[in-house]
Amino acid sequence: RVLFNLLPSKRPPVWEGLPFIGGLLKFTGGPWKLLENGYAKFGECFTVPVAHRRVTFLIGPEVSPHFFKAGDDEMSQSEVYDFNIPTFGRGVVFDVEQKVRTEQFRMFTEALTKNRLKSYVPHFNKEAEEYFAKWGETGVVDFKDEFSKLITLTAARTLLGREVREQLFDEVADLLHGLDEGMVPLSVFFPYAPIPVHFKRDRCRKDLAAIFAKIIRARRESGRREEDVLQQFIDARYQNVNGGRALTEEEITGLLIAVLFAGQHTSSITTSWTGIFMAANKEHYNKAAEEQQDIIRKFGNELSFETLSEMEVLHRNITEALRMHPPLLLVMRYAKKPFSVTTSTGKSYVIPKGDVVAASPNFSHMLPQCFNNPKAYDPDRFAPPREEQNKPYAFIGFGAGRHACIGQNFAYLQIKSIWSVLLRNFEFELLDPVPEADYESMVIGPKPCRVRYTRRKL
Ligand code: HEM
Repeated sequence: RVLFNLLPSKRPPVWEGLPFIGGLLKFTGGPWKLLENGYAKFGECFTVPVAHRRVTFLIGPEVSPHFFKAGDDEMSQSEVYDFNIPTFGRGVVFDVEQKVRTEQFRMFTEALTKNRLKSYVPHFNKEAEEYFAKWGETGVVDFKDEFSKLITLTAARTLLGREVREQLFDEVADLLHGLDEGMVPLSVFFPYAPIPVHFKRDRCRKDLAAIFAKIIRARRESGRREEDVLQQFIDARYQNVNGGRALTEEEITGLLIAVLFAGQHTSSITTSWTGIFMAANKEHYNKAAEEQQDIIRKFGNELSFETLSEMEVLHRNITEALRMHPPLLLVMRYAKKPFSVTTSTGKSYVIPKGDVVAASPNFSHMLPQCFNNPKAYDPDRFAPPREEQNKPYAFIGFGAGRHACIGQNFAYLQIKSIWSVLLRNFEFELLDPVPEADYESMVIGPKPCRVRYTRRKL
């Protein structure tokens, strides 16, 4: 390795022969195969020409520290995530300078303090209990559909606010669906392409802005305050930019959409995989159900921030489901400066300025050098001393470093709440084999899978 480091560094190998459109199709038609073939051919670091860009993949913990650690002046997000601007709107997140974005995320982080999280837990529980109360004694469901509906309800209540949950839910859910449909793989490279789903996206975005402007104005005028993320944004003020002013209605709408996009599908998919794997591995389901009974014996029936935090077995199942199937296939940056990486076999490369750089949680989580027997579902791999989880940049389901997920605690609490209600009240049986991941969707979830639920006899 020392010898290799003394040799002049060179650019990563380029996957030649993929024409402009060929690369684009391979990328947008599900980049999993592209990654799989590229890794087999070139190893941990390689470049693929995709449309008008060069995408360099960094696979595994040896080559990814710079990606996760570097400042935004070196590894930038705006240039690669700016396809979100028509969805999130102007003046927020990827449409603003880094220092403004940092303040906007700081405002969101203030909605996720321990005390704030505590106040969301009763809403998670209430929504979950009401939702599953509607299930019969026994029936067949697809987790992905069920959790997607439930998490739209919890997100509406805790993020978008009481008014949306109680009065405007169907209307807002439809508009959000229109935004979702407007995010297709082509949008990543051509977010303004004149296609019908983009036109619909733009109409829905406009209607959402009008709805939120009304709600915000009504709250500001009445002085009424609620415990939700919307309230946090209404109360927040910039500190070191924009003259210390409050957020505009348009900015608040944009930030709400952004956090919803970051948290909704990722959470509902992870809730689904957690259930699928526990149902397929009865011993883990039973252990998690026993843990619920222990918690009830010790603390009573109430689900609170404190009792949810005690659930280590359930926590490990969620983490392992996320390791097996992270919903975000790629996280990306734009290299504003060249940087070098050294692979585990000692090859050194310089990634040039201007490359799009991508790391893949899915792919990294399946590397045997990071996780023993990576294809096996084994939540106990995360039991203390948690060696596998603690290997730097091995577990990256929530990203890592500078831009690691800020909604992680919110996500765990929400998923634990839902699964606590289910583990206490139902048994499950998979009627199909454990499904494959649907790598063709933007956020990667399970393909359809039928599950039979049976209500426990009390
Ligand atoms: C960032 C995954 C839930 C808000 C990220 C990143 C990943 C991730 C991989 C890093 C992206 C990157 O490096 O480019 C997940 C998963 C979740 C989840 C798997 C659920 C299981 C949530 C929730 C929220 C949220 C519930 C909000 C309520 C955010 C935000 C960022 C982020 C705002 C951007 C942080 C930054 O750029 O500094 N998430 N997330 N996430 N997540 Fe999550």
